[in-house]
Amino acid sequence: MNITCVKSVCFSPTGNTEYAVKYMARRLAEALGCKEEHIGFTLPAERSEHSFSKSDLVVFGVPVYAGRIPNKALPFVRSLFRADGSPAIAVVTYGNREYESSLTELRNELTDLGFRVFAGAALVAQHSMNENLAKGRPDRKDLAEWDSFLSKIPKKLTAYAPEDLPRLSLPGREEVLPYYIPLNEKNEKANFLKAKPLTDESKCDKCGICAKKCPMGSIDFEDPFLVSGICIKCQACIKYCPKGAKYFADEELLSHIRHVAQHYGGNIASNYFFMG
Ligand SMILES: Cc1cc2nc3c(=O)[nH]c(=O)nc-3n(C[C@H](O)[C@H](O)[C@H](O)COP(=O)(O)O)c2cc1C
Ligand code: SF4
Ligand code: SF4
Repeated sequence: MNITCVKSVCFSPTGNTEYAVKYMARRLAEALGCKEEHIGFTLPAERSEHSFSKSDLVVFGVPVYAGRIPNKALPFVRSLFRADGSPAIAVVTYGNREYESSLTELRNELTDLGFRVFAGAALVAQHSMNENLAKGRPDRKDLAEWDSFLSKIPKKLTAYAPEDLPRLSLPGREEVLPYYIPLNEKNEKANFLKAKPLTDESKCDKCGICAKKCPMGSIDFEDPFLVSGICIKCQACIKYCPKGAKYFADEELLSHIRHVAQHYGGNIASNYFFMG
């Protein structure tokens, strides 16, 4: 198989998934002796349509939200990308709880778009809602595991024509299950659908970074205190605010975050790698 470019593609509000797919694309491009390219679709300004050929190797990543592809990112996946049998590696990053059906869903979506998905990975990365979950991950041990997985890819690509690459199977996870239902500390359903971040006026200097970093384009550039559109709770505005001015005060959301920390904080979750 003649791969001329390894392309990393991702939706990544707080950067974990972008780090993973870029790392993988760089390593694979080195191993295959070809170019690499990055295509982000996190921010409204960077979203555009792309088609891929059989000479592109695509590393396609999304974060896990409620055990699935973030539901607001799914329309972008479906509308922006097309492939003509391009070999693809599906990647999800998750924050120490579970990745549930996300990888299966991503594989299915990419297959429907014309990709030949032959490999996949569910990778642990620091939880974007609580830095104490999977803190410091991926660490050196994780990267060694990623490298071991990546080292098997070139051999696979040499052994098969793109259309003959064995399709990715996910034993025990072939079915896409409903979204995980977030719980609060009382183990009841936590309803924080309408929660939006607030701004500490005494800290904010109206630099506009949060508005630029919001994947939903929901923060007003002129008045960053105003969050007029949909909020997916991605935490990008909080992470990237240089003044620490953005925060959530919604009690249900905070209770859910504490619930996850209590139940999954002690876990050391694993990376999972699959090859068709
Ligand atoms: C709204 C939301 C839902 C999440 N749901 C899950 C989940 O179901 N399981 C899990 O382990 N981590 C979950 N996480 C953590 C993210 O999957 C993880 O931090 C991911 O690496 C973030 O990717 P990004 O930095 O590319 O945005 C969630 C994070 C957010 C913001
Ligand atoms: S990034 Fe922070 S300081 Fe800048 S406008 Fe947004 S809230 Fe204000
Ligand atoms: S307003 Fe909501 S969707 Fe926008 S960056 Fe902040 S948390 Fe993410």
